Amino acid sequence: MAIKELTVIVVFSWIVCTTGHEFFSSTDKVAQLFEEEKDLLESFSLYIDAEEENVLIMKSILLALQLLTYFDNENPEKTMRDPVAAYKLVRRVRSEWLTIVEITQQSHYEKYQELLAFADIPELEDVDGAASELIRLQEFYKLYPHNITKETSLDADQAYNVGLVAYDEDKFQHAFLWFLYSLNRLTEYSTTTEKELLNYLSSSAYHFGSLSVAIYFKQRLLNLDPTNDKVRVELSLYKLLRLQGTSNPDIFTLNTKSKNLYEALCRGEVDERTSKRQRALSCRYSTGGGNPRLMYAPVKEEVEWDEPRIIRYHDIISDREIEFLKNISRPQLSRSMIRHLRVSNLRTSQSVFLEEDNTVLARISQNIADITGLSMESSESLHVQNYGIGGRFEPHYDALEDENGRIATFLIYMSDVEIGGATVFPKVGVALKPKKGSAVFWYNLQNNGRVDFDTQHAGCPVLVGNKWVANKWIHEFGQEFRRPCSLSDWE
Ligand SMILES: *[C@@H]1O[C@H](CO)[C@@H](O)[C@H](O)[C@H]1NC(C)=O
Ligand SMILES: *[C@@H]1O[C@H](CO)[C@@H](O)[C@H](O)[C@H]1NC(C)=O
Repeated sequence: MAIKELTVIVVFSWIVCTTGHEFFSSTDKVAQLFEEEKDLLESFSLYIDAEEENVLIMKSILLALQLLTYFDNENPEKTMRDPVAAYKLVRRVRSEWLTIVEITQQSHYEKYQELLAFADIPELEDVDGAASELIRLQEFYKLYPHNITKETSLDADQAYNVGLVAYDEDKFQHAFLWFLYSLNRLTEYSTTTEKELLNYLSSSAYHFGSLSVAIYFKQRLLNLDPTNDKVRVELSLYKLLRLQGTSNPDIFTLNTKSKNLYEALCRGEVDERTSKRQRALSCRYSTGGGNPRLMYAPVKEEVEWDEPRIIRYHDIISDREIEFLKNISRPQLSRSMIRHLRVSNLRTSQSVFLEEDNTVLARISQNIADITGLSMESSESLHVQNYGIGGRFEPHYDALEDENGRIATFLIYMSDVEIGGATVFPKVGVALKPKKGSAVFWYNLQNNGRVDFDTQHAGCPVLVGNKWVANKWIHEFGQEFRRPCSLSDWE
């Protein structure tokens, strides 16, 4: 019966619980929400079908009962004086009532309500969390509402809500810009009113310190609502404050100064490689220092930076292999989410260590060994990561100074990223753009085993696109005789 399918669908699809801005952190979560939406509508449709079936059954039973009454129709006069006829009538009405009670109890209404209550749909906080992430990205990349809504526009009500979230977070300039965006999109169908918007535009400007703008919008509000004494008083107050003279910053223009080098690198404003140092950097074919496996298929390498040495290897993994790795990672990524493995805000992505034995993983590992000249014997298994929109990894070091630390990192890009998602080294000013099929390699530890602090790096927030990477972390043990000779190739 349909209701059984209904139960299965609803229960299965809503087990996964997602909260807040984490909807954004992985593309797979966004995909999952699409699935949830599909299931929600499908279960609704199944519910309607089941109820329709029920209504048909009820109608046919009603018909049967009516027929019975029709054929048994004693004349009331007779029934009133005939005890047998009276008995028959009493008995029949009782049985009709029982049938009706029973059949109407088969309605799926209550069961469906239970299922809906159990459904884990986004809460209001999730919607606000998504808006909050949107604002964080905007702040990071210095984007105006019209920049970020180029692909997908928002209507006045949606923009108003984003503005309210920004306002609640005391981000008054972004709030103001969203309210302005909303004001320009007001239609007769909007729920948001012009008065609300003018009021918020004025207070955002006031809190930001732009008194002339605050006064302008307050005046417009007063023109719309001339009898509002509260607005009149606020307007006079603002005018008074303006007389006292304040800085009056320009609320319409975003400050494009970056807070730090990390941000500036992510935004592509600086890249030390454009300096004259770049000329010293080179691009060539390498055989991994004469490795026989690379003699006939040398790998194309590019020195991205000299100190610390960061090398990019091109075309080291095929599209097919990438697809294979994504395929085996995907179910494990979602599984980790079902177990509520919380992702910290410093690292918004989903990841998995691929532990199993298979030829693709073995080949990748061998390839890394050949290229770097390092032993894979103490390396970790390949670590696959998927970053969705907003997915980032704040500046960090891969290595700790402990026994058998992560001597080197081999980072494989399994996708291009349309905007954002660069790997940046803030200490030295290098930004590496993800390029599908390429990998970058660097030593985290110096020859003396100390952490090379210049290798601090970060994954910039993904603005548009879907970032997949695979990390191979190589450890010290097993490299005793290898590192010096692999380095001789460079020094
Ligand atoms: C956003 O829009 C501003 C002004 O309209 C423009 O100068 C800027 O280049 C845009 N930024 C991006 C990243 O598109
Ligand atoms: C990956 O999975 C898709 C869909 O299940 C399948 O069509 C494709 O052949 C798989 N690719 C590889 C390389 O395993």
